[in-house]
Amino acid sequence: MEKKKILVTGGAGYIGSHTVVELHEAGYEPVIIDNFSNSKESALDGITAITGQQFRCYRVDCTNAAAMREVFEQEPGLEGVIHFAAYKAVGESVEKPLEYYHNNVGSLVALLQVMREFNVTNLVFSSSCTVYGIPENLPVTEQTPVQKANSPYGNTKKICEEILSDVAQSASTLRSIALRYFNPIGAHPSAKIGELPLGVPNNLVPFITQTAAGIREQLTIFGEDYDTADGTCVRDYVHVVDLAKAHVTAVERLLEAKGDKIEFFNVGTGSGNTVLEAVQAFERATGVKVNYKVGPRRAGDVPKIYADVTKATEVLGFRTNSTLEEAMKSAWDWQLSLQDSVTNV
Ligand code: UD1
Repeated sequence: MEKKKILVTGGAGYIGSHTVVELHEAGYEPVIIDNFSNSKESALDGITAITGQQFRCYRVDCTNAAAMREVFEQEPGLEGVIHFAAYKAVGESVEKPLEYYHNNVGSLVALLQVMREFNVTNLVFSSSCTVYGIPENLPVTEQTPVQKANSPYGNTKKICEEILSDVAQSASTLRSIALRYFNPIGAHPSAKIGELPLGVPNNLVPFITQTAAGIREQLTIFGEDYDTADGTCVRDYVHVVDLAKAHVTAVERLLEAKGDKIEFFNVGTGSGNTVLEAVQAFERATGVKVNYKVGPRRAGDVPKIYADVTKATEVLGFRTNSTLEEAMKSAWDWQLSLQDSVTNV
């Protein structure tokens, strides 16, 4: 039987590359689009090392509808699209709001137009728990109200969800699933692919692994005066491979034409850990100490958020297959396997 072809925008990126591998494992044929603005071609080698396959990859910017159209012409019979391609640095988005709106919102609009032209009707969209802002009650369910975004980045995710909802209200045949990610961490167990931050990492786990590897001198924990068990922020850290698998089941659900025209799912583990607990989990899992100090709060940080994943569990069959320690260990194995870490400093 011919494999079903799924287009993966941002397929060379962190979550994208893991999803390409899981799509392959599940019997799909992934086709990648990436402009490599925040990824490296080496990710494709990693994918090949794991799967033994070289998937077609188009170096295209998703805001460029004409270039996207060419890809759709060259790839007839696409059954669906998973749209990862986006900028994701909260701080940078405050400095460069127009770039964020253009790239994140512009790429979704261009993609939807081209999908309509080619009658490709299934879309999985990368959303974020950032849409919940500072939630009043925890854990957050999909019914928790969406709030005003805290940053232009967060607003792009909120706007993109609204665009998809508006399209769903129209006569469009599009079916979409927005996955609201909590904090994806870790790497593929093979250590052939993982998170590859260009420059100084913004996110906690790459900063921990780079500090442990001696690339960064010291981790700063942003604030210890929050109203949490140890005073540091609480997040829901989900293993990237578990998250990648959620995309595959979301695609399956779309292809079976189950559910409403648009659906939202939280993807986390269902439990929260403080920043300090995350550091300690890393130390326990690897036996390596992390040099850290406590600094002031980071502007815009949500004190505490974690997911209720009942809906994803029941509807998508989502499962958390690894502990925080296992995720940390995989992130460390990936860090150790990086030959060119120094060039990422
Ligand atoms: C943020 C966004 C999330 C987005 C993600 C993409 C919010 C609330 N969350 O996640 O929507 O998808 O970025 O990158 O806007 N920390 C330190 N020291 C560090 C780095 C982080 O203490 O050097 C702490 C942070 O204060 C936070 C936790 O670690 O409490 C996780 O931070 P990070 O990995 O940056 O993710 P979020 O801010 O949760």
